Amino acid sequence: MSNVISAEGVGFRYGGVPVLREVTLGLAAGSMLAVTGPNGSGKSTLLHLLAGVGTPTEGRVHRDRGTRVSLLPQRTGDIDALPLTVAECVRIGRFRPLRRLRRADRLAVDAMLDRLELADLADRRLRELSGGQRQRTLLAQALVQDAEVYVLDEPTAALDTGSRARVHELLAERRADGAAMVLASHDADESALADEVLTLG
Ligand SMILES: Nc1ncnc2c1ncn2[C@@H]1O[C@H](COP(=O)(O)OP(=O)(O)OP(=O)(O)O)[C@@H](O)[C@H]1O
Ligand SMILES: [Mg+2]
Repeated sequence: MSNVISAEGVGFRYGGVPVLREVTLGLAAGSMLAVTGPNGSGKSTLLHLLAGVGTPTEGRVHRDRGTRVSLLPQRTGDIDALPLTVAECVRIGRFRPLRRLRRADRLAVDAMLDRLELADLADRRLRELSGGQRQRTLLAQALVQDAEVYVLDEPTAALDTGSRARVHELLAERRADGAAMVLASHDADESALADEVLTLG
């Protein structure tokens, strides 16, 4: 099967300092890759390159033109400065340029709020949430997107056991629908959900 995303000999340096070397991988529809490794080993850097945020300093990343990628970054602190509510933040996941949200979009947002137990928090501002509630909101925004590839950087690091299990169910459903996943994780049980594990560092 052809790959939705591939990386060939990818390297990356921050101002001359190498953090990734010779990463080669391919990700088929419906498959999941877990990226593990200690703090500072380059997981977030690799995920950003795969999602198209930045370009490798060596090698290349290939995505077919028009491939829809949903990225959940690890660090999202700045958005707390915006007066966004939970529901608004999740709705952003369904925005398309020059198109109004449709009924199907609103239904998808409501379903996602329910699935991640955010319905009661829908009108709260992001800065008024606990760490886990905030992570669930950002995950909801990432997972409500109709993407072919989901790139999730430590998506469940702040979640309790029940929430984590609900997220894993959602990931399995997206995969069953043919989406590809890349997930950075420090959790061995979570990495074991993947078809393949890439350990950096
Ligand atoms: N903007 C930056 N400028 C310079 N160096 C950076 C920058 N961002 C990250 N680094 C460095 O690049 C290396 C890889 O960072 P990265 O965030 O990819 O690691 P990580 O594996 O995701 O770590 P963690 O488990 O802590 O999330 C680290 O040594 C880090 O200090
Ligand atoms: Mg990281």
